[in-house]
This record gives sequence, C-alpha cells and structure tokens, in this order.
Amino acid sequence: MAKTTLSFVCQNCGAAYSRWQGKCEACGEWNTLAEEDTTGATSAPVSLRSKRKGRTFQLESLTGKSIDAPRLSSGMTELDRVTGGGFVRGSVLLVGGDPGIGKSTLLTQATSMMARAGHRAVYISGEEAVAQVRLRAERLGLADAPVQLAAETSVEDIISTLSEGTVPRLIVIDSIQTMWTDTVESAPGTVTQVRASAQKLIRFAKKSGAAIILVGHVTKDGQIAGPRVVEHMVDAVLSFEGEGSQQFRILRAVKNRFGPTDEIGVFEMTGLGLREVTNPSELFLSERDLGSPGTAVFAGIEGTRPVLVEIQALVAPTSLGTPRRAVVGWDPSRLSMVLAVLEAHCGVKLSGHDVYLNVAGGLRINEPAADLAAAAALVSSLVNAPLPPDAVYFGEISLSGAVRPVAQTSARLKEAVKLGFGRVVLPERARGEAGGEAGLSLNTVGGLTSLVADIAARGTPRARHDTTRQDDDGGDQGRRGPRPAEKNATPARFRRQDG
Ligand code: TYD
Ligand code: MG
Repeated sequence: MAKTTLSFVCQNCGAAYSRWQGKCEACGEWNTLAEEDTTGATSAPVSLRSKRKGRTFQLESLTGKSIDAPRLSSGMTELDRVTGGGFVRGSVLLVGGDPGIGKSTLLTQATSMMARAGHRAVYISGEEAVAQVRLRAERLGLADAPVQLAAETSVEDIISTLSEGTVPRLIVIDSIQTMWTDTVESAPGTVTQVRASAQKLIRFAKKSGAAIILVGHVTKDGQIAGPRVVEHMVDAVLSFEGEGSQQFRILRAVKNRFGPTDEIGVFEMTGLGLREVTNPSELFLSERDLGSPGTAVFAGIEGTRPVLVEIQALVAPTSLGTPRRAVVGWDPSRLSMVLAVLEAHCGVKLSGHDVYLNVAGGLRINEPAADLAAAAALVSSLVNAPLPPDAVYFGEISLSGAVRPVAQTSARLKEAVKLGFGRVVLPERARGEAGGEAGLSLNTVGGLTSLVADIAARGTPRARHDTTRQDDDGGDQGRRGPRPAEKNATPARFRRQDG
C-alpha cells in the first residue's frame, strides 16, 4: 500500500514541516505553510520504486565531440550581454520581475528574433490565450515571425509535443507558476508543483539541448515568488527591474553559471515594445537638473560598461526625534558609513537632518566607487551649493576619511569625455592611471575633508526651520544662493549649535 506523506510546505521558501504552524522558521514569513503531498511520487508504490536496480550509463571523457554553436545569440545585444554572450544550449534561465514590467514583451521579442533567424523557437503561455499573445506580437510588429505558439500548462504535454521534430533552440515558458505536472498531487502554483515542473523541464533541456527560459513572478519584497527553490536549480537567474512609471527597464543577472553577474542590459519601454539602449549614460543623464544643489554625476562601471548616472541628495532639517535616512538605488549601510565619516572627520553635522539619497533613472548601484559622488551630493545639498555641472565623481571613501582609488579609472574617464564632461573629481592615487585623457581637468582629492571644504566654499547652509537658533557664524542662515568666496571656509561652519 502506497504511503502518502502529507507535510506542510512554506510557499515562500520551500521549507517543510510535519505540523502546521503560523510562522515559517526558515524564512520568517507568516501564514505561508500549506498542506502538500511531498513524496513527489507517481502512483507506483514506494516499495517497488525503491527496489529498482540502477541503470548503468556511459561515462564520457572531457575531450570528445563538442556540441556545435554552444552559444546562440538572441538577436538582442542587451539581452546577450546579460546572458554572457547568448543562450547556452541545454541551459535553463529564470527571468523574474514584477507583473507588468515587460517580461512577456521581452521574451516575445527574443523568440521572434530567433525565429526570424531561422531557428525553431517556441513560446508557451500558461497565462494568456493564444489570441492575446498574437495581439501583443502584432503590436510589436512581429506577427510575421515564424514563432511556434501555444497556450498550455501541462508539463507532460509540452515535453511530448516538443520532443517531436527538430529540437527547438529556444523555449519560453510563461510562467513557471502556471505549470503543473501530474506526477505530484499539489495544486498548480504550490512550491511542490513548481519545483517538480521545473525539474522536468530542466531535465528536458539538458537531454535535448534546447535552451529554456522560465518566467517567474516576483513577490512584493523582491523574491521570486514561491519558486525561490527554482533559483537553485536553473543555470541563470535574470531579474527584470524598473519603475512602472518610468520607461527604463534594467535586466540584471543575479546568478549565471555561464557568464558574469555584474552586467546589466538597459531597455526602454515604448509603444512598440522594448527598445535596446546601447548608451545608458545618455539615457540616465537626459533629464538632468543642471545647477540645482544636491546632485552629482557618478562615473560608474556596470560589468564591462561604464555608466554615468546622477546621484541626488536632499539634506533637510528634521522635525523628528530620530532623523530619517532614506535611500533608493544604493546600499543604505554605505550611506550610513559616508554620513558617519562626514560627521567624524569633516565636521559635517547631520544628526539633526533628514537625509534622502536617490540614484536617478531607477539604476541600482553596488560599487563602493559611488561613495565620493554620494558625499559630494550630500554636502552640496546641505550647504545649498550646486556642484559644477560638467564634473563627474568617483572614488571609495575609507573609514579614516581617505579617498581610495577604484578599478577601471581610464574607462570611467573615457565615458566622461564622450559625454562632454570637462572635469573629474577622483582619488589622488588614481592620477597616474588617469594620465593622458585629453580634454579633462583632473581634480584629485586625497581625503574627504578637502572635498567638503571645496564644496563649502561655494555655498551657504540651508535655512533652518528653527530661526531662533543662533548660527555660529553670525546669523545669516536665511540667506540662499552662493555667498562671496571666503578664504577660510572651514567645514566647522555647519556644526549645529544645540546648547
Ligand atoms: P508584459 O510584457 O505583459 O509584462 P509581464 O509579462 O512582465 O507581466 O508588459 C505589460 C506592460 O507593458 C503593459 O503595462 C503594457 C506595456 N507595453 C508597452 O508599453 N508597449 C508594448 O509594446 C507592449 C507590448 C507592452
Ligand atoms: Mg506576462
């Protein structure tokens, strides 16, 4: 008699428990446990299955006949960049993203390009009817591409259909949460189903050599819903991000067995689908607010490509007991560190101010090289002094207040020159590497203190909300706009006098 094992599986992280409980101890989520049959079994009795003798198989050597064209270009440069040069045969990719961000659009475009290039490309939608997918393709002007289309959700049916004829080069499954296999009894969308379906599709990909793209939805906290377990099974995880209100979309590799994970692909959502953005700096800087305080241009590197992006800061007196620190697009702990260094070494007192930091264009920066640009934007906002509009900034700030050199100085400078910037503020020790970039004036800084003094000399502290307080330099705190140049502009001027 087959023994069915019922257990309670967290729909968020896949942890299994023998009893129901309100909170998953593995991921800390509440009310995510659902009853599932986790034997993963067919109807065959356990005793029979476990006694099956293992089949012997052929072991291969490292040399030998290699598969032709190991990588297959998608026809979209930005997508290829993120995958590391195209789809690898027999690999499985998971593309995650918020609903409505454009995953189906991106993959419809990719399959159409592949089909037009003469490959067998299949698009299986478990969410939309064939007519809806056709409608989208029509809108994208791709209706004539020989893509093979189906609206199916049964993994077994899909695999038997695709096993016939020539092996497809690309199969898109939109989305993995809608797939189900009859080897497990749980409902579609549950962790067990998603895992089992993904397993089957992955096995099919490895065996047939077809590249499979699984689409996965993301929950509000940024996790790929339910099938977080799938992340470990696939070869690559790409995340498609962007603000719904903005046109930019960024494709980022979160995991990649066959390529780098620091590359990004930039797209723009238009009425005719996704347009590739080959020069993202132009896009991120296109709506710059020239001449307003609190913005600095950061010369960053995303993967192999330099990207210039605006960092915006707002430092304003707080009305709260604990001032707010809000950051979008950058690491909050790096912001805390930069603020601490500004306070400890440069006399910039920010404990009475709310601090907001934003990376324009929806980009997310992970590089420590952004420290210097962030610090410049913060100080610029605090003293109400715009930074020179033709300057870019990069450099890592150490806890001692020193500005340390970062990698790829010359690539950053080249991009700055290309986009018409005339000035670079960079770490002193990077000067050697910066050497011969024509048309750029190099402004090297050894420590954060000198940068702060420099910016401070250009501006005046923001008006205080509490005008009864005495400023230590003579009560001109209400004045805005650049003050006359002062020789001994020490950062100490910004210290709050609270007592
Ligand atoms: P979609 O690819 O369906 O998103 P997902 O599969 O990630 O849920 O894209 C949906 C959004 O994209 C929708 O709000 C409309 C917009 N869109 C355009 O702006 N232009 C287009 O050409 C297409 C096809 C969609
Ligand atoms: Mg979709």
